Amino acid sequence: MYSNVNFDLGGNCVRVLDQTRLPNEEVYLHLSTPEECYDAIARLCVRGAPAIGIFAAFAIAQIARNESPSHEDDAVFFARMRQVSEYLASSRPTAVNLRWALRRMEGVMGACEGRGREDTLAALQAEALAIQAEDASICERISELGLSLLEDGWGLITHCNAGAIATSAYGTALGPMLLGAQRGMQFHVYADETRPLLQGARLTTYELSKAGVDVTLICDNMASIVMSQGKVQACLVGCDRVAANGDTANKIGTSGLAIIAHHYGVPFYVMCPTSTIDMSCASGGDIPIEERNGDEIKTMFYSRPVAPASVPCYNPAFDVTDHSLITAIVTEKGICRAPYDQSLAAIMKG
Ligand code: MRU
Repeated sequence: MYSNVNFDLGGNCVRVLDQTRLPNEEVYLHLSTPEECYDAIARLCVRGAPAIGIFAAFAIAQIARNESPSHEDDAVFFARMRQVSEYLASSRPTAVNLRWALRRMEGVMGACEGRGREDTLAALQAEALAIQAEDASICERISELGLSLLEDGWGLITHCNAGAIATSAYGTALGPMLLGAQRGMQFHVYADETRPLLQGARLTTYELSKAGVDVTLICDNMASIVMSQGKVQACLVGCDRVAANGDTANKIGTSGLAIIAHHYGVPFYVMCPTSTIDMSCASGGDIPIEERNGDEIKTMFYSRPVAPASVPCYNPAFDVTDHSLITAIVTEKGICRAPYDQSLAAIMKG
């Protein structure tokens, strides 16, 4: 199984691929403190909704092991670990998977109170590994269902990166492309570059070309002409949170792509695990949207300035696609279609 998050078994750290260095270098970070783990999520070294959840679970398990000797008293130890969990949860606000995975780890802590320390540490590690393994089979199922919506030879478009490095295996939106390629199908994928941090240019083209998928990079503002020329038969995107009515938060620019797709009559598919569905958000207006430092816009991917240093910037990292623009939401439990308030409720109950 492809895995970009690992325990350094026997060591004191979590090992994670630093996505800010891709595609130029494949460098792994070795992280052992809460601050290092928080920073890795906040700086997008590890990114993508499922991947940050998996990583946070690994971080909790490893930090618990590292800090255990300093807190002999169980009450102090569990209070400290809950504090670390809250701290990691605050590293990014939009992807609900982060909080979902941390709540699972907190559930294990609750169940372990009163048990021996070694048992607790082993249970936390087992839970992190289970979250990762479950995500791999969930992504495989999403890929399979997503592939059932596509035909060999189609042109596809995607935004940001929802591939294996954003999950544990295959990915969500890139899953059908990767699975299709394994089966000898030929898709032609257009990857939006995804300003300002270029996840499409740096990560999606890296993953797809490595897997032998035919991929062409375009600037975000080129999606309309590509669709007007009939080059795209379906849009596939991942997401960070789905509200109960089907409104969907994903990387900034996704809603614009959906509006263009609607104009040209191109189906727009959102792919995600059910852990990304947040029934406590009634609509997209309830989803917290991360706002990042404007320097990300003024500086071309952390290097050369591309705007006057003094110009103000507005840098929301995500936007919400209205459910009316979404053809289907593909999850591991099935494909949901409008009316989403009913189909999502049914899938979450099931
Ligand atoms: O800011 P990022 O790079 O973490 O944004 C990621 C996305 O928008 C992805 O599409 C989403 O998390 C799904 S990843 C399977």
